[in-house]
Amino acid sequence: MTDLKGTVVTWLGHATVHIATAKGTSILIDPFIEQNPKFPKGYQLPEKIDLILATHGHGDHIADLVPVAEKHGSKVVGMVELMGWAESKGVKNTVGMNLGGSWKYEDVTISAVEARHSSGISDGNEVIYGGEPVGFVITIQKGPVLYHAGDTCLHLDMQLTRDLYHPQFAMLPIGDHYTMGPKAAAIAAKYLGVTGVLPIHYGTFPVLTGTPQELAAELQGSGIEVRAISPGESVR
Ligand code: NI
Ligand code: MN
Repeated sequence: MTDLKGTVVTWLGHATVHIATAKGTSILIDPFIEQNPKFPKGYQLPEKIDLILATHGHGDHIADLVPVAEKHGSKVVGMVELMGWAESKGVKNTVGMNLGGSWKYEDVTISAVEARHSSGISDGNEVIYGGEPVGFVITIQKGPVLYHAGDTCLHLDMQLTRDLYHPQFAMLPIGDHYTMGPKAAAIAAKYLGVTGVLPIHYGTFPVLTGTPQELAAELQGSGIEVRAISPGESVR
């Protein structure tokens, strides 16, 4: 069993995840709420959201970034170009990063790592350059090292993420079509050296056909645990 040492990871459907550290730091990743068919009904975001992490510029990851940041007074962390866009929309407190960089806040260190995808921001009739997409490694003091892959295909640089950060628990897209599917996600989990996986980015829309059962079948005998939970439930 993966032990998250007091950290609570709550899946909110699609790629939206809330993380609360044992010390009380509150982090929301990829806020997709109003139009997210899998956002848990009646779920209230915590009042305190210190950080919002944005992996890339697609609507199913940042649709609610601006209003949530404003309402909760959160710092927003992501690729420099994406943060430039967020500032242009009125977000006051941004931390623009780029691949390979780390930034420390209280008991967490956020590292931006490679994701292979696209990151154009649809804004009215325009598509704005959002910089490169990223995944995030979240290293929690006296806690676990977590990895949220964002949207990505399987790539060998996940082995570099393993060597640099030694993540224990990964949030991996398995839906296929726009990202890797279960077979590739199983290989990703092995490349990363994690002991547990929270499957995300599946079942939201009909084309996202990958399932946690397929992932678990691919990982059978590997010792890597698939924590298939429903939106609104937590891994701890
Ligand atoms: Ni995307
Ligand atoms: Mn997506």
